[in-house]
Amino acid sequence: MTTVRAQRGAAGVRPVRVGLIGWGTIGSGVIRILRDHRAAIDDRLGAPLRLARVCDLDLDRKREVSVPRSMLTKRAADVLGDPSIDVVVELMGGTGAARSFVLEAIAAGKAVVTANKALLAKHGAEIFAAAEKAGTGLQFEASVGGGIPIIRTLREALAGDRNTAVFGIVNGTSNYILSTMAAEGRSFADVLKAAQRAGLAEADPTYDVDGIDAAHKLTLLVQLAFGARLPLGAVHTEGIRDVDATDMAYARELGYAIKLLAIAKDHGDAIEARVHPTMIPLDDPLAGVNGAFNAVCVHGDALGRSMYQGQGAGMMPTATAVVADVLDVARDRLRGGPRLPPLGYPLSSQRPARVRPIGQVRSEFYLRVAARDEPGVLGRIATLLGRGGISIASVVQRERRADGPVPIVIRTHEIEEKALRRALATVAALPTVAGKPVAIRIEESPG
Ligand code: HSE
Repeated sequence: MTTVRAQRGAAGVRPVRVGLIGWGTIGSGVIRILRDHRAAIDDRLGAPLRLARVCDLDLDRKREVSVPRSMLTKRAADVLGDPSIDVVVELMGGTGAARSFVLEAIAAGKAVVTANKALLAKHGAEIFAAAEKAGTGLQFEASVGGGIPIIRTLREALAGDRNTAVFGIVNGTSNYILSTMAAEGRSFADVLKAAQRAGLAEADPTYDVDGIDAAHKLTLLVQLAFGARLPLGAVHTEGIRDVDATDMAYARELGYAIKLLAIAKDHGDAIEARVHPTMIPLDDPLAGVNGAFNAVCVHGDALGRSMYQGQGAGMMPTATAVVADVLDVARDRLRGGPRLPPLGYPLSSQRPARVRPIGQVRSEFYLRVAARDEPGVLGRIATLLGRGGISIASVVQRERRADGPVPIVIRTHEIEEKALRRALATVAALPTVAGKPVAIRIEESPG
């Protein structure tokens, strides 16, 4: 029945033709959805949506789906220079050739769909401006949160609110590693190695575990949520390599989970934007987001807090977001132009962001100091923290040991970061303190 309606609805309408550049895992998912959901997609569009060309430098690798040989090419020019192709889907990744291809496609009047957060974080200003000027559609739902429709939500559903915070778990790999460390009491290095063996983490995990991927995504969320553009370097970025199983255990004991959070807050006069391991209460809904799942929370003046959760990565979840974008720009083609600019608002309304430096950001902190277990040590540490203006909320020292340092765990009240760092340096210099003290920011209720 669906097929019959599709044929009738599509009769006589020129197909919208799609060219795919980058035939990797997500590309295979896109091809599969376009093939398997063809009738329903044609129905929804009211016109046939057809894959016309697939471009990749490596056409011989074994893949999840097959494509007729006649459709394949190694030359991007066969897609970009083909006037019959309406929509270019960029899934090749990287920020060099991908930038050129996206700009070429826009210049040729084609609509563009991309999942490339690194590209948009680095060259977004140029690409958004080009698309807006050319009046072509540009969609990028899959660039943040995989299959979670967070871009569209911020651009449209929350457009009536004044958002004051956007934060969440936007990197599945690091969330998988941290969740596994917490559940199994294992070390970062051990879990990373196992995740790489199982294909759950890249051979080079730098982008994921060092917070870079999350920072790229945060720059996009900030533009959508606050209407302000952050230079990429303005996101304070720390990864999860130094998260220790000991701190995972203490965190749980104190009622917290440790998550890699991307956090942005709009204070009106300045925006803070940061990615770092964060302790959040175990009863916060974000603490229950485990494995490779992602979740983004938005706090708005009118709506309060809302949370969007789902599969943040992977072939089919990410491909659904790409195909929805293809449908969106295909609808634009049939309508004669995009319904909205790429960010939902004209770039001329975008305000330059004044960034609050990390030193001025206020947080509560979890501290772990390794110190010799002798009378007066705790007093000296407390005195130095007090002199630095830091108020202590609680102290835990469980172990007793005569032959080496013991962990002293301290929770502070809210304090400016630079005051905390200054005081902690004086603590680290005590002869009774061994190694570098650990400091993890606590967010009781982000936003
Ligand atoms: N590498 C990303 C992650 C998925 O681990 O979440 C794509 O955004």
